[in-house]
Amino acid sequence: MLTLILAAAISTATPVLREDNIQQIVSLLTLEEKAAILVGCGSTAFDGIGRNDIGVKGSAGATHAIPRLGIPSIIFADGPAGLRIDPERPGTDKTFYCTGFPIGTMLAATWNPEIVEEAGRAMGAEVLEYGVDVLLGPGANIHRNPLCGRNFEYFSEDPVLAGLTAAAYIEGVQSNGVGTSIKHFAANNQEVNRLHNDARVSERALREIYLRQFEIAVRKSQPWTIMTSYNYINGVHASEWPWLLTDVLRNDWGFAGAVVTDWGGGYDTAAQIHAGNDLIQSGSDSRYKALIDAVREGRLAIEDVDACVTRALELIVKCPSFKGYRHSDAPDLEAHAAVCRSTADEGMVLLKNKGALPAGPDGVTALLGVTSYSFIAGGTGSGDVHRPYVVDLQQGLSDSGFALYAPLDDFYRTYMEDERWRCAMIDGKNSWVIDRERPIEVIPSALIWEAADKSDRAFITFGRVFGEGKDRDLHYSYHLQDNEIQLLRETSAAFHEKGKKVTVILNIGGIIDMQGWQELADAILICWQPGEEGGHSVADALSGAVNPSGRLPMTISKGYEYEPTALNFPRIFEDKPFNYSFYRRLEGNKKDYTVKDIDYTDYTEGIYVGYRYFGTYAPKHVAYPFGYGLSYTTFRWSNMKVARAYAESDGALYRDSKITGYIVSVDVKNTGKVDGKDVVELYVKAPGSEMDKPARELKAFGKTPLLKPGETHTVKMYVPLEYLASWSETAGAWSIEHGRYRFIAARDASSRGLRRSLRL
Ligand code: BGC
Repeated sequence: MLTLILAAAISTATPVLREDNIQQIVSLLTLEEKAAILVGCGSTAFDGIGRNDIGVKGSAGATHAIPRLGIPSIIFADGPAGLRIDPERPGTDKTFYCTGFPIGTMLAATWNPEIVEEAGRAMGAEVLEYGVDVLLGPGANIHRNPLCGRNFEYFSEDPVLAGLTAAAYIEGVQSNGVGTSIKHFAANNQEVNRLHNDARVSERALREIYLRQFEIAVRKSQPWTIMTSYNYINGVHASEWPWLLTDVLRNDWGFAGAVVTDWGGGYDTAAQIHAGNDLIQSGSDSRYKALIDAVREGRLAIEDVDACVTRALELIVKCPSFKGYRHSDAPDLEAHAAVCRSTADEGMVLLKNKGALPAGPDGVTALLGVTSYSFIAGGTGSGDVHRPYVVDLQQGLSDSGFALYAPLDDFYRTYMEDERWRCAMIDGKNSWVIDRERPIEVIPSALIWEAADKSDRAFITFGRVFGEGKDRDLHYSYHLQDNEIQLLRETSAAFHEKGKKVTVILNIGGIIDMQGWQELADAILICWQPGEEGGHSVADALSGAVNPSGRLPMTISKGYEYEPTALNFPRIFEDKPFNYSFYRRLEGNKKDYTVKDIDYTDYTEGIYVGYRYFGTYAPKHVAYPFGYGLSYTTFRWSNMKVARAYAESDGALYRDSKITGYIVSVDVKNTGKVDGKDVVELYVKAPGSEMDKPARELKAFGKTPLLKPGETHTVKMYVPLEYLASWSETAGAWSIEHGRYRFIAARDASSRGLRRSLRL
């Protein structure tokens, strides 16, 4: 009797969400509840960046909880250079700082997915311990043009480098049992008019360049979520496009996670749900109502809603918030600072070295440039992490045993104090549309000449900060300013007269123009925006405590006018003070096609982005090629081998049925005098007879471990067969042309390297 009563009670009680009853829960949800799950809680304040104070203060967004069915709210927070939440909360003295890691571009510059994964593990641990469920990163858009304001968040101009770096980042973060959101899917390559710009791009370029890195990351690492971009692609909003979100992402690539809008992205909620954009963030009452009305009025099928709710619940059951994880609010920031330093150590790119480096710490160092005294750890906007501190170069060098020339130190200390009140922002904190409000270089000439006399070398840092919501200003951000060049000119004259060397450190989120000044420097080191431990990492590289082993993840051309996209990208000059991100919105959200590069941008260069263009059409316009970077030691490569890799079973995609790809190996020997790591970049030159193909394309790469002088290591790289395919517009399919393929193991996109040929 008792058993019978119990059984009846159990069957009538409302079930709660479990991993194995999602369909049952979907069937029990009302339409209003479904809409509440899909449309986020909204932002409690909008400071230009999505923010949310539900659960975790300063996170970006959350989903609504449905307590009667045991469905918790889950929390999203930015990324990508670590976790972005508010460092302070009312009513407590406790702080909630997060480690500021190196920017995405610098992660790619390591050419080392293992170290990126380690950084990801540390970021993910902070996500977990601060009670967040999904980190809004990595940023994986292609560097189509050097002036894109968010390039610093993104990895590279090359989709293979970007894809493999993204995959490693995702794996690292998600190993903590928290999610990622790779963004912004897709073709979000400019900030100007980002909500309304239409990226008009061929299907081939889309598939080979702008989607490829997302594909690699999805196939390899299954991010829990993917974030659609604000822009239109060929006339359709990315978040409203079934082809992109369902046909390609889910059906072709096998994406098993949830799709989330960018914050406030797209207009038509019903179209988004129908397209397979599951979660609408950050959400608003009008979006919630729009979804319900669309179903009631028969404009949106309930099956589409249920598919999205199912995927949302599948995401929720994986989250720490669902699992009842009791977060500590005390991640190991000290250990993560060490990870930040070692990651940045590995992404330093030594561009030039005429006997100037390594230098010190012995002797006296003259440290110049305002940025040396106010380092830029990261870019601005939602990608700006609230880090506990930033080690600038002055501190980094001092901590590493360098003696700095004191009168310069004194000069800069006073000058920077005076400037702090004048510049709204010196180091990029808490702001997002400022890319040039940095103090100008005003150092008296006599001080430079005195320093040249009394010290052994000069280090000068030039910095650039920029970020979300605005593209870079060609004049102020891309070019060095007269006052900067003047400082360099004078320093170079004074130090060279005394036979002493001058090193320039570039603390930048994206490349700058190199013409007209680089010959004044004996050495140039790009330290990017290296995160909170920046000054220490730069000191490591300058002194040689760590041998630089980073490589450029983009081409540096001989001038902006040579960029393949220069004529099809917004030109930002100071005299055009419009609101960059929200410009050109028409009444009733109608799309307008009046202003070139603002209403629409034509990707006329097709697949010829970055080195694909320069290597094929304009090699002489390259200042530093993609993949370039020097070392303090030398390496010799030999014994290059290319072997076929076979599938264990059938099912390969292409006509050479059982071959799945190629394994390429190269022996790398350290032939110099100090320890170092080397990178082998594997390019392939396709026959290019049936199809239009670039001179070469990166297909794989490998980095050695730290090699001692005399030590040899075999770098093994895998090229999946499908990486050799191109999208044929005529056939509407991937195709691998027949003929002779050249595998080129090279130091960069321009150098000759070792070669092996193979017929396919
Ligand atoms: C950005 C996203 C970010 C989101 C939430 C948007 O403005 O484009 O990258 O994740 O805000 O802050």
